[in-house]
Amino acid sequence: MNLQLYPTAFDLRARARKVMPNFSFEYMDGGAGQDIGIKRNWDALDAVELMPRYGRVVSPPPVDAFLFGRPYSAPLGIAPIGGPGTAYPGAELHLAAAAQAARVPYTLGVLSGIDVEQAAKIAPDVLWYQLYRFAKNDHKIGLDLARRAQAVGVHALVLTIDTPVRTIRPREVKSGIVNPFKLTMRLRLDAMTSPRWLYALAKHGIPRFVALRRYMPPNLTSLEESAAFIRQEQGGAFTWEEIAKYRDVWKGPLVLKGVLHPADAERAVALGVEGLFVTNHGGRQIDALPASIDALPAIRAAVGKKATLILDSGVRSGVDVARAIACGADAAFAGKSFLWSLGALGPKGPAHLIDIYANDLRATLGQLGCMTVGELSTIGKRHPGAWTPEQLAG
Ligand SMILES: Cc1cc2nc3c(=O)[nH]c(=O)nc-3n(C[C@H](O)[C@H](O)[C@H](O)COP(=O)(O)O)c2cc1C
Repeated sequence: MNLQLYPTAFDLRARARKVMPNFSFEYMDGGAGQDIGIKRNWDALDAVELMPRYGRVVSPPPVDAFLFGRPYSAPLGIAPIGGPGTAYPGAELHLAAAAQAARVPYTLGVLSGIDVEQAAKIAPDVLWYQLYRFAKNDHKIGLDLARRAQAVGVHALVLTIDTPVRTIRPREVKSGIVNPFKLTMRLRLDAMTSPRWLYALAKHGIPRFVALRRYMPPNLTSLEESAAFIRQEQGGAFTWEEIAKYRDVWKGPLVLKGVLHPADAERAVALGVEGLFVTNHGGRQIDALPASIDALPAIRAAVGKKATLILDSGVRSGVDVARAIACGADAAFAGKSFLWSLGALGPKGPAHLIDIYANDLRATLGQLGCMTVGELSTIGKRHPGAWTPEQLAG
């Protein structure tokens, strides 16, 4: 496999579109509404300009970073992905292994095909864990998952707050994916067009929600039944009171994912939350949300140094990582592009994509005249889309 043919994330996307079943590509790539939120994320990042300074020796600048006191090789990571096996069976295993080898954070999503104990064996130094809201019986399932994550040394617990309701992703619907998920005849026929996907399926089996299996009645065995169980148990967005409950139980860094308004950021910090994902869920929830890069500066201004800020949504290159850090983030994570990498290159994809991001970030730092990642926050920048306090006031 000639990796040089895929020097950017978009090259991986083009290849994935060609070689994956249609439903799998549409699941990983499609957004809410007309994909306007996805495009807004890309356009808003593209609009950020960074001013270089020349006249000193900078090469090769290091890109390593500390997040919540732990060293990582770069200020970038893999965002949580639910049902990643739909995009590529066995995705979690490859993502976890690549993250561990490269020493960048891997956020395992709760709706995954491996459980947190297995992930911790593959990625012991870099594992973060994301939870959705399982509120029944006083959060019995959710709090137990948090305790299990603690027991296996997960570094940070991420509570996703930006999915208060289910919304529709039209490309996913049109591709034949139904909710709860069902391996219909149409999907089976679609899968037949992709030897790569079928090979991964043969190796790893039909994707299942393994982390939740122990909470399901034993008679629920099929994929459809377990998806229906999850639909009953999971839903809504964490309230501030519920977040406080998780703060009590979880002893490590607690991170909220989905913050766009600085007032929410301040409230989270007041509750003892240490990290925030500034994100619009990659444009997958609704089309009208601000680009996360445009929401970022006001959040940094509101929380100062009291929280670690992670930007995701639309990150496709090391230049984007640099833009995010210049505009106030401590790190940038990516979701879709890691699925593109798997779709395009199989198990070798995620490691190649991490290299693309890290090498591009290194080159960007050098080009801008920065000796360290931290210096990015001190350089000149123009950010035309950033939300102002007046706009935020409504
Ligand atoms: C297929 C897919 C599934 C996702 N599932 C989850 C999830 O289960 N939990 C979550 O917090 N975010 C989920 N996300 C959102 C990502 O964590 C992340 O916020 C988003 O992908 C970032 O934008 P990007 O795709 O442009 O990089 C998902 C994203 C994708 C593409």
